[in-house]
This record gives sequence, C-alpha cells and structure tokens, in this order.
Amino acid sequence: MTALTAELGAIVAAAFEAEGLAGTFGRVQLSDRPDLAQFQCNGALAAAKQAKTNPRAVAEKIAARLKTQPMFAKVEIAGPGFINLVLTDAALEGRAAKIASAPASPNGKSAVIDFGGANVAKPMHVGHLRSSVIGDSLQRLFRANGWTVTSDVHLGDWGLQMGQLISEIGHRGIAPIYFDENYRGPYPKDSPITMEDLEEIYPAASAACKAEPARLEEARRATAELQAGRPGYRALWEHFFEVSKVGLEREWGSLGVHFDLWKGEASVDRLIPALIAMLKDKHIAEESEGALIVRVAEPGDKKEMPPLILVKSDGAVNYATTDLATILDRVAEQDPDLILYVVDQRQHLHFEQVFRAARKAGIAGKAMLEHAGFGTMNGTDGKPFKTRAGGVMKLYDLIAMTTAEADKRLHEAGIGADYPAEERADIARKVGIAALKFADLSNFRLTDYVFDLERFTRFEGKTGPYLQYAAVRIQSILRKAGDEGFVAADPLIRSDEERALVLHLLVLPEKLAAAEDNRAPNILCEYAFELAQKFSRFYAEHHILSESDAGVRAARLGLCALTLAVLIKVLDILGIEVPERM
Ligand code: ARG
Repeated sequence: MTALTAELGAIVAAAFEAEGLAGTFGRVQLSDRPDLAQFQCNGALAAAKQAKTNPRAVAEKIAARLKTQPMFAKVEIAGPGFINLVLTDAALEGRAAKIASAPASPNGKSAVIDFGGANVAKPMHVGHLRSSVIGDSLQRLFRANGWTVTSDVHLGDWGLQMGQLISEIGHRGIAPIYFDENYRGPYPKDSPITMEDLEEIYPAASAACKAEPARLEEARRATAELQAGRPGYRALWEHFFEVSKVGLEREWGSLGVHFDLWKGEASVDRLIPALIAMLKDKHIAEESEGALIVRVAEPGDKKEMPPLILVKSDGAVNYATTDLATILDRVAEQDPDLILYVVDQRQHLHFEQVFRAARKAGIAGKAMLEHAGFGTMNGTDGKPFKTRAGGVMKLYDLIAMTTAEADKRLHEAGIGADYPAEERADIARKVGIAALKFADLSNFRLTDYVFDLERFTRFEGKTGPYLQYAAVRIQSILRKAGDEGFVAADPLIRSDEERALVLHLLVLPEKLAAAEDNRAPNILCEYAFELAQKFSRFYAEHHILSESDAGVRAARLGLCALTLAVLIKVLDILGIEVPERM
C-alpha cells in the first residue's frame, strides 16, 4: 500500500518539473491545519528561494497545474505560498477499499531486534516489562512494514549471579556431584533445582555475598571457573538456563510476547578469545592497569566517554565484551541491516561505548547499530515502581494484578455477567494486558510514566480497554448485520463524519512509517485512539442497521468493516488482542 502522501507527492513533483523546478520540492505531507485542508505542499517557498522569485508566484503556477487533475476538489494557496490540497470524495472512496487488504511487500531489509533481556535466575522486573512490551511492538511493526525481523531475547546468563548461585549451591551441599573435581560425567539430565528453588537461592546467595567479602570472592572465582569451562559448573549452568527458560517462556507467553532466538551472553562466549586476539592485533585493545580496554573517546565529545573494559584485571569478561561478541555472532548469522537494542535508557553510555568499539573494529558489517532506549515506569512516589512491600514487582504478579483489576472493571460495567466463567476470565486477562501494554506504549518510550492501574483499566479515555471495546462494538454491529443477511459494500462518503473517518483510515501507511522511523509505537496508539473517536462520531450521526436504503446501509457496513480491520491491525501491532465479545 503506497502512502497517499507519496502518491500525491509524485503528482505535485511532476507539476514542479513541468515548471522547470526540481521535483523534490513536490513533497506532500498531512496538513498541519486539518480544518483548512487534508494535505499540503510547502515546496514553493524553497523553490522560489532557489530560483530567486516570489514564492506565491511559484505556488500559483503549481496550483494551476494541479487544478487540472480530477482528483483534487480544492487546490488553494495559503500564507506566503503553502499549497493546500483537498481530495474529492470519489478519490478518497476509491482508495479506501484497498487499505486494509494490502499486505506489506518485503522491503528487502533485515533487522535483529534485541529486547526482553531478562537475567537467568533473577526475577523479571518492570524494566524488563517495558523492554518486552516496546520491543515486541517494534518487532510487529517492522514486520508489518516489510522488514525481515529476527528477535533475540539476549538473556543475561553469564555474569556474577551465575557464580553466586553456584557457590551458594555448593555451600548448601545440594548437588555435590557437580562440585566433585574427580567426577568425569555424565551429569544428571534432570535439574537438581527448580524455578522455586532459584527464586529462593538467588536472593540468599546475593545477600551472603553482600555480607561477607569471602563469599563474594568465592562467587567471583566460581564465575571465572564457569567461564573457563569447568564441566560440573557448566552442567549446573545448563540447568539454571533451562529451568529459567521455562519460567520466562511462561511469563512472556502470558503477555503474548515471543522471541525467535533464545540466545544470551553465554552463547557468544566461544567467540570471545578470537575477538580479543583480533582487537589486540589491530591495536584497538590495549593494556591498562592490568585490564584490557578499548579507548572509545572521540574528538568533539561533549561529555566524558570512558574506555570500554574488555577484560577485567581478574580475567573475567564484561557485559560490553559479550555485547561485542554478540555483534560478531549476529553479523555471521543474519548479516542484518539494523541491530536495534530496546533497553533502558540508563544503559545508553554502555551502548555508545559498544557501538564505537564495534565501528573501530569494523565488525558490524552493513548493520546500523542503534539503541532505542526507554524511561522508567514509576510508582506514585515518582520512583521506579515497586510492590507494596517495597520489593521489585515481578511480571507474573503484575499480570495477576492487572487481570484482577480488569475483572473488577468488567463487573462494574456489567460486562459479561452472563458469560461462561472461562470466557469471562479470558476477557479479563485480555483487558488487563491491553491496559498494561497500551499505558506503556502510549507515552513516547523515553518519557517516564506513573503506573496507575485505576486509570489504565478505564473503559473511557485513552486506554487499551477503550479501544478493545470500540473494536468489540463494531464486531457486534457486523455480527448483527450478518444475522439479518445484510451485505457490505465499498464505503461511500456522504457526510463530514464519513469523510473524516475515511481520510483517517487512508493515512495509516504514513503513521506506520512514522512509527517505524521514530521507533515510536505511541504514534500508533494515538492513531488508534483517533480512529475509535472518529468511528464514534460516525456511529452517533448515522443509521447503520436501521438504515432503510440498502445501498447506503451496505456502504456504511463496508466502512464499519474497514474500520474494524484497521483497528485490529493496529492493535495487533501494539500486541493487544480483541475479545470476541465484551
Ligand atoms: N540483561 C540486561 C539487563 O537486565 C539487558 C540486556 C540488553 N541487551 C543487550 N544486548 N545488552 O539489564
């Protein structure tokens, strides 16, 4: 589906060219003043400046040419030389019918999207929730726009927390076989610890390391031994990974978030020795105070840019090292055009260091490296969101909480009181998740926002549940129409409300492109909200099922169906499911 602005841009460009001016001046955009026009072209100003003539005179000439085109109902010049455009209803109608059906054609580009990023053996927290919700929406958006996307969860599975777990398990004597240096394997297939065990062992291990320097030292040693390949530790690590993966898959699954790859820091460990050798060889890495570093400061840096630490003085590798090796891995496996990291903005410096080092080393292939950061979800106290007990909120509990709140709301609104319990529970879950996701996505990602479940779950206002309800209402109109044996036809524009709705449907491609360009699902949240509102106005002013003229009724049903298709498509990109009924 070509964007309407692109189609119009080509026509206006031809008019500029016919006047001996560059076609690039013909760029058309959505009007800044929807009350005055639908589209506008500002190119006459720049064209006149270049040709050293009067902008209004240029605009007059272009407008005269455009007026000969039957698709324009109005071509007007405003201010110093803006060209305002309004299409005929026939031109809008003709294009509307095609909008929802057209699948994206592949754009020939590929992206790896790195999001989720939970840490093995540690519970997911709200930062991971934001990464999951925003990252998932971006993977859906990029796919909808024709990209080939590989999503990778990039689990944190190689750091100190692994050594802490191992040494704690050693202390407790839970599974001595993994610690017996004379044992040659094979190790048991079944894990000696469960997810519940991990949830208890990890905090205990971390507390012990905080309290006793000797325990921390032990954990460090265990980490280094694990990374060096000690078989019993590797075997234990495999268990941690598998056990955590099952738990994480369940949590992400209930959020409707899926990853193509379940790789992590550990999966690129094998690439690190060659990476380090190469960096030393090229004199990119250098020794400094016992550590191996890469200097990444550049002339003109406005703020301090510390060197990236590749290998610490104790021999362990860093977060930055595994991220560099992961770039190598992704270039070897996918050779993507873009690697997008959807990670907390507080890690921005880390990514800047990694990207600079990667460019210095020339390891990124054709990939553009980009950090799409996000702000924090805060509590009403303005600090990162915590449980009432002051702990970090687990995703699992958060979903349970939003589902319960949604259920309360449904009850208050008298929705689904007579539905089977199972369906009712399913609706509550979908509404709760929609509330959570929409609230998160509707702010620009870098903006912090306050978690307010009461507001997020409302059925009025800019919320996920409001949009679900809007879609369900259209579904019900269409279902009733089906029961009556009414058919739908291509939409027709016979009123202001219909025109506004059709025009809004037609600008979907522009909004999809803008959302992609800015890595900003909030643009689609706004779009969906406006769509629901424009539909409401149309619905309030027109008879649909009660319309007696069969032709008019069919066209209005067609407009309902089109609105529903677009709304569902956009909600799907936001990761929001629409229940059958509510
Ligand atoms: N595990 C990290 C964390 O919890 C996030 C990983 C993000 N991705 C990356 N390639 N560094 O902070």
